Amino acid sequence: MPVRCQQSPVLAGSATMATLGALMLYLTKPFSYGKHMEIPAPGVPPLPARTAWFLQELPAFVVSAGILAWQPRSLFGPPGTLLLGLFCAHYFHRTFIYALLTRGRPFPVVFLFRGSIFCVGNGFLQAYYLIYCAEYPEEWYADIRFSLGIFLFILGMGINIHSDYILRQLRKPGEITYRIPQGGLFTYVSGANYLGEIIEWIGYALATWSPPGLAFAFFSLCYLGQRASHHHRFYLKMFEDYPKSRKALIPFIF
Ligand SMILES: NC(=O)c1ccc[n+]([C@@H]2O[C@H](COP(=O)([O-])OP(=O)(O)OC[C@H]3O[C@@H](n4cnc5c(N)ncnc54)[C@H](OP(=O)(O)O)[C@@H]3O)[C@@H](O)[C@H]2O)c1
Repeated sequence: MPVRCQQSPVLAGSATMATLGALMLYLTKPFSYGKHMEIPAPGVPPLPARTAWFLQELPAFVVSAGILAWQPRSLFGPPGTLLLGLFCAHYFHRTFIYALLTRGRPFPVVFLFRGSIFCVGNGFLQAYYLIYCAEYPEEWYADIRFSLGIFLFILGMGINIHSDYILRQLRKPGEITYRIPQGGLFTYVSGANYLGEIIEWIGYALATWSPPGLAFAFFSLCYLGQRASHHHRFYLKMFEDYPKSRKALIPFIF
């Protein structure tokens, strides 16, 4: 029997994600992983960063790629399948490349657990909407929202990957020290990797023109914007010679 779109759960899921994002702005303390991890970490011992990031991100890839593979149309057929392909590409990179290269310090299990649940929910929401609900006009591929959105998605992903590469190069394998990131968009902001990721999901929201896409972009903006601001304060406190003109997330502004 063909799956029929249920609009109400899609809207409820999108509204929940947007609300979660807005609530992040009220948190005064940063989430306790990476730079902001309490040492010693309370509760269950943290997992090696590579294992943790792999397990955390894998569900988003499996769920979205599973739904993409299950549907009968070709990847370059309707816009919905192509857009879901881009979502899968992001999570393929995050799961099988970023996670396996990271030199991060051990990662608390509680955040891995929460992150995995988010990844299952978000992966399902985005994939379900694009395959079973989205209806794009025939000329969507020529629409400015699609073209600009794809451009921003690729640009943001490029900035994110390049910035994460710069951060990785700050450490030798086995080190967990922090240094001042230099180069790329780090010249202007402390959260260059986050800025890239936010641009990426704004592009996705534009190209998909969808409630789940918009909700995820908003969530990323709130969550990563907040975290960039905490990183910035961490750097200012830790390094006396931290570049004074560098902002937290938006060059010259914030
Ligand atoms: N879309 C979303 O909502 C979302 C949510 C979370 C994360 N993400 C993405 O996931 C990726 C990782 O996120 P994150 O929060 O872990 O990023 P992060 O805090 O910037 O850390 C990224 C990596 O670089 C290391 N690092 C950071 N600053 C460093 C410094 N000054 N010197 C040496 N090493 C440094 C970190 O090590 P430590 O772990 O030891 O600090 C970690 O391995 C990012 O690309 C982010 O955009 C996306």
